[in-house]
Amino acid sequence: MKIFAYGIREDEEPSLKKWEQANPDVEVGFTNNMLTADSARMAEGADGVVTLQTADYTREALEVLHNLGIKYISIRNVGVDNFNFQDLNDFGFTLTNVPVYSPNAIAEHAVLLMGRLLRRTPEFAQKIEDGDFTWAPTIGKEYREQTVGVIGTGHIGRVTMQILKGFGCKIVAYDVYHNPEIEKQGLYVDTLEELYKQADIITLHVPLFDSNKHMINDKAIEQMKDGVYIINCARGELIDTDALIKGLDSGKVAGAGLDVIDNENSVFGKKWSSIDNIPNEKIRNLAKRLNVIVTPHSAFYTETAIHNMITTSFDSNKSLIEGLRPDNIVDTNK
Ligand code: NAD
Ligand code: COI
Repeated sequence: MKIFAYGIREDEEPSLKKWEQANPDVEVGFTNNMLTADSARMAEGADGVVTLQTADYTREALEVLHNLGIKYISIRNVGVDNFNFQDLNDFGFTLTNVPVYSPNAIAEHAVLLMGRLLRRTPEFAQKIEDGDFTWAPTIGKEYREQTVGVIGTGHIGRVTMQILKGFGCKIVAYDVYHNPEIEKQGLYVDTLEELYKQADIITLHVPLFDSNKHMINDKAIEQMKDGVYIINCARGELIDTDALIKGLDSGKVAGAGLDVIDNENSVFGKKWSSIDNIPNEKIRNLAKRLNVIVTPHSAFYTETAIHNMITTSFDSNKSLIEGLRPDNIVDTNK
């Protein structure tokens, strides 16, 4: 049996080596290239493919894999929004993801972004850089005074809530599905409007679908409290960047913590000579503000997460090749 993996980074190699040692019956090939129509040919002779990328998977790349006789694709991450399910179904692929590699990694990052905004750490860092070691006017706010609106109470949203409770925050939550534990605690509001009305901080933890693209738009921001903070560690396309910039300009939005941004693939994952040279005016605009913290889709990036992403994705791909049905098969008929 052979598995071929795409986009393997140096930091993943030790976990991959361990997996190979534990699975001597599997031949593993890999490249650091992403899966494209060109690189797809590298999987010739493989029974399954393991991959991870934030760019869209193209129909052309999937067609090449299909023509090589490959039926199984296992991604090393959670989100499946960069696949066109119709393409997967047309070519008869079975897809697995890693739904729970470490919700804590992302939840901790979201809470950290909130804390950095509340205590105005980018402004203090700039002051120190300028030789200004004074306090005012950089006064902070405390977590325990905040009502945090958590949109999406799945794996990541629930860990975020757990951590926030430890800080003494009041929490309101919104989800199309009500988790019984959260329901018991009486934290759900019925509508997003209600959450917007109550929350001092809003944090997004929902998957991206066609139906919720730009859910945070002018109208949503208008319904929020003056001076709201917005945190996005889910998917960039959930926020209309123009609306966010407008909200920041007017002061309606006091700050934002953004691990993901619409069209991030034009900038993220590459090294630029300076922030002034990035080829995306909106990301440049956001990243240069002292009340906005941008991180390059790195919320997931912890040692624990990387190890689990490798292990579960390879285990799943092996199971599929063996004819088993692991419980992390993605329903591509939704
Ligand atoms: P999950 O499936 O466990 O939870 C998602 C929750 O969102 C579910 O409870 C679901 O009912 C709810 N939901 C779906 N559509 C909704 C809608 N329109 N309105 C309200 N709620 C809705 O997923 P998760 O593991 O918590 O991950 C959430 C998202 O975080 C992923 O889909 C992915 O896009 C993103 N993510 C980002 C990173 C990162 O590094 N920044 C890492 C992992 C995941
Ligand atoms: C996910 O797991 O969905 C992420 O956003 C992580 C990223 C490496 C794709």
